[in-house]
Amino acid sequence: MRSFVLRGGRLTAGQSRALREFWPQFGIDKNESLLDLRTLFGNDAPVIMEIGFGNGDATWQMAQACPDENYLGVEVHQPGVGHLLLKMKEYGITNIRIANDDAVEFIRARVPEESLAGVRIYFPDPWPKKRHYKRRLIQPAFIKLLASRMRLGALLHLATDWEAYAEHMLEAMKSSNDFVNLSPSGDFCEQPDWRPQTKYEKRGECLGHRVRDLLFKKI
Ligand SMILES: C[S@@+](CC[C@H](N)C(=O)[O-])C[C@H]1O[C@@H](n2cnc3c(N)ncnc32)[C@H](O)[C@@H]1O
Repeated sequence: MRSFVLRGGRLTAGQSRALREFWPQFGIDKNESLLDLRTLFGNDAPVIMEIGFGNGDATWQMAQACPDENYLGVEVHQPGVGHLLLKMKEYGITNIRIANDDAVEFIRARVPEESLAGVRIYFPDPWPKKRHYKRRLIQPAFIKLLASRMRLGALLHLATDWEAYAEHMLEAMKSSNDFVNLSPSGDFCEQPDWRPQTKYEKRGECLGHRVRDLLFKKI
């Protein structure tokens, strides 16, 4: 069961050019072999994975603010990948690598165990209808998969503007023995200052939605 339906949407001329010119430097070609993150980034800096980055505006801002960290972005929507490559070129950002894949399959096949210093999932598709709940990305089995690829002490940061999904995330995280909740009240956290506002967040706020951040540490 996939957590996405591939949206149509044409690539703009700029996105096509970015994919042609910059993918060879920053893109991760599809294959089945385990990644060597040191070789991929050319250094030993901690690697933070962002899943479902959309147009990547939060990704490049975080990578720009933290040049001593590496960012591994995974997104199925190709125009979003093109948009992020354009921004990386515009701002001269080199500490991002991009996979244009289903994150579930990508993590399972290609991300080494206990290799990630953090995972960020901002505004995943809420799948609001009950019959679609099983499509939600944040589920116990996926949390288990993430935990296996995260180092001890690594942070898992989730955010959503969908209150029912926030509760669902909290329940799913509570059922895991691999994480401890960093919320002083045992539920949600203040938005950390490293998280930029995302495109979907802006859309949710215009609709009057309350935004929830969840922060968990791998133990
Ligand atoms: C609601 S959008 C949020 C985008 C962005 N994080 C933001 O806040 O603006 C969810 C994104 O997750 C992507 N997505 C959903 N499931 C995915 C998966 N299994 N692997 C990679 N990307 C996925 C979708 O293509 C979409 O761009």
